Amino acid sequence: MDFEQENRIVSPDFNESSDGDLELSLRPKTLNDYIGQEKAKENLKIYIEAAKARGEQLDHVLLYGPPGLGKTTLAGIIANEMSVQIRVTSGPAIEKPGDLAALLTNLSDGDVLFIDEIHRLSRSVEEVLYPAMEDNALDIIIGKGPSARSIRLDLPKFTLVGATTRAGQLTAPLRDRFGVILRLEMYSPEQLSQIVKRSAGILGIAVDENGALEIASRSRGTPRIANRLLKRARDFAEVMANGVITEDTAKIALGRMEIDELGLDQIDRLLLTTMIQNYNGGPVGLETIAATIGEEAVTIEDVYEPYLMQIGFLSKTPRGRVATALAYKHLGFTVPGQQKFEL
Ligand code: ADE
Repeated sequence: MDFEQENRIVSPDFNESSDGDLELSLRPKTLNDYIGQEKAKENLKIYIEAAKARGEQLDHVLLYGPPGLGKTTLAGIIANEMSVQIRVTSGPAIEKPGDLAALLTNLSDGDVLFIDEIHRLSRSVEEVLYPAMEDNALDIIIGKGPSARSIRLDLPKFTLVGATTRAGQLTAPLRDRFGVILRLEMYSPEQLSQIVKRSAGILGIAVDENGALEIASRSRGTPRIANRLLKRARDFAEVMANGVITEDTAKIALGRMEIDELGLDQIDRLLLTTMIQNYNGGPVGLETIAATIGEEAVTIEDVYEPYLMQIGFLSKTPRGRVATALAYKHLGFTVPGQQKFEL
C-alpha cells in the first residue's frame, strides 16, 4: 500500500492532502525538537534510552488524546530515536487478519509499526495482534474442519505504536498489552506560539512575537490547527499587508476566517447556540445535538467537544451535554437565573 493512500485513510477529518508534504516537513524528528507534552516526552526519553542501552526494541506504546496533538509525529520520533524504520497504517485500513499478517511479516527487526485509530481494528484482526505483541508470533490456521491445524510463525521483534482519540474504546486485552501508555494534552498558547515560530522558520514565513501568539491563542490547543492558521494568515499578510504576520494582520486574517478570540469557529458556535436556543442549554443528548446541527456524533465528540470542555464551555453529565454560563456569556446570551442581577 503506498503512503499517499495510507495517509488519506488515516486522517479522514483533518490532514488536508494538498498540504501533506508540508505537514511532513514541519514534523520534528527528535524529542529535543518536539515542543510541549513534557510529561510524555520526559518518560519516553527514559524508556528509549533504557531500551537502547539494553539493545532491545522499545516496548509497545499507546498514545491517546484528541486529534492533531502530534501522535503520528511522536511515532515518527520514536522510530527515529531508536534508529529503526516506521511503517504507518490505520485501524480501518487493516480489513482482514491477512492484511495485518502481511504487514507484520514484512517488518525488520526492531521496526515501529504505527497503527492510527487503533480502536477501529476489527476483533478478528485484534486477535492476530495479541500473539504478535506478546510472543512475536503469528498463529496461522491451515486447512478446514477436523484436519485444521495451527502453526506458529516467528515474527521480527517490533514495537507497536498505537494511537487513538478514544482510549476507552480499546478492548481490555489490547490495552493491557501496551507497556507504555501516554496521554497527550492540549498545548498552552505559549507552547503553540513556539510551534508557530518554529514552523514559520521552516516555511520562511515572517511572523512577529505578537502575531505568533495571536495565532497560537486561537488554535484550540492544537498544533495542527496552529500550523494551518499560520499558512492562511501568511496569505492575508502577503496580499493585504507587507507580508509580515503581526498581531493586527493575524487578527484580520482570523476574523475573516470567522475564528474568534478563543479559537471557536462557526461549528463550535452553532453547536453551543443550538444547545442554548433549542434545548435551554441542556442537558441534551449527543445524538440529538448531532442530528440538529447535521454533524456526526463521533466528530462532535472527538473534534469539537474536547476543546469546549477544556475551556469550560461544555460539560458532560449523565443526562446529556450542558452549555455552561461561560458559554452563554461568550456568545452574548443572558445566563439563565442571572437576569435579576443585571441592572
Ligand atoms: N509541529 C507539530 N507538533 C509539534 C510539536 N509538538 N513540536 C514541534 N513542532 C510541532
